[in-house]
Amino acid sequence: MRSRLLVVRLLAALLVTWPGLTFFGRRGQSSSDAVDALVKDVQALGSAGQDAANMASALLGGLQDSKLLADSSYDARRRVAKFKIAGGGAMGEFFPDLRIWLQVQLDKNLRISWEKARSGAVVLHFSGLSFAPLPGAQELYLKAGLDSFTCPSIKSVNQEEYYQCHLKKALVMEEFWKANRTLIPKNLQHQFAFIGDNTVISHLSEQLGHGFGWSMLLVLSAPPSTVETLEFSENGVRGTSIHDKNQAGAKLSAKHGFKDLSLNIARPLVGDTRFGGLVRSVGERIMPVACNFGILCSVGEPRWRSKGIRGADPKVVASLFRRRGTKGPNGEEGCLTWKSKKRRR
Ligand SMILES: *[C@@H]1O[C@H](CO)[C@@H](O)[C@H](O)[C@H]1NC(C)=O
Repeated sequence: MRSRLLVVRLLAALLVTWPGLTFFGRRGQSSSDAVDALVKDVQALGSAGQDAANMASALLGGLQDSKLLADSSYDARRRVAKFKIAGGGAMGEFFPDLRIWLQVQLDKNLRISWEKARSGAVVLHFSGLSFAPLPGAQELYLKAGLDSFTCPSIKSVNQEEYYQCHLKKALVMEEFWKANRTLIPKNLQHQFAFIGDNTVISHLSEQLGHGFGWSMLLVLSAPPSTVETLEFSENGVRGTSIHDKNQAGAKLSAKHGFKDLSLNIARPLVGDTRFGGLVRSVGERIMPVACNFGILCSVGEPRWRSKGIRGADPKVVASLFRRRGTKGPNGEEGCLTWKSKKRRR
């Protein structure tokens, strides 16, 4: 029974994922000078530094191309770069076919600082960078009736009870899909529908028990979170984040423990189970971007930190934050499309 549940959870995790110059803070510095100076300093920190510089350059280059960087500065002594985001903030949407269950959100001020640890790891600290649920996800959570009961927190019950309670929600979601598909926003229908369209996956999902419901539940339970650090080392890239109280869905997320649920689902992806290593190696081959995104978001969290689980592939991390339509130094395709918050409203 246990192993069957494990396989379900693991399948659900797969389903949901498938888818030189220095400056001292002078004002008015051009954004490309600030970006270049930051990237150059980080690049000089060895191979982990190179990986960190690639990520920073991918992110900031995409924002520059999208004319979103205003008023930039880099303070080399304090190792801090600051950027004002034009229009008061921006949203970065991942290419839908990647089936990533969150989007990127930038506040009006983006701050990136760096440090080199004694171990050789390079840590980028962020302020103003968040992950947000997909548009319509939390509205659908309410509309489908998932808010009508709350599951006990993972600390107060055993795995099995925790799992069974969330399974109930997965079933509610499956019924809603059957009866009310047209009430689901187009972007979320796209996120979900490919499971139904893929005979092999939908068959497996049926056999193993509601993988489809699980995958929908996970998308709808995406936790709003603020990215604090990305750590680059020989052991891959690990992210840490905290609950973002400022996002619209923060209360719902706290009430239903979205972060714990996501981390629980990610267990096999990060290799934290008997079969985890296998899932991870398969997942990384079939859907490298979404799989590495899941790894990036989980392995640095306190629950797993001390286990020394290998982090995400640095090349994939750089491509995640790269603007769609551009390619990285090794031909990696960019994944993000940026939209100014101002233009959206
Ligand atoms: C379908 O949507 C209607 C209106 O929101 C709701 O009353 C009904 O319970 C839903 N059906 C299912 C099976 O979720």
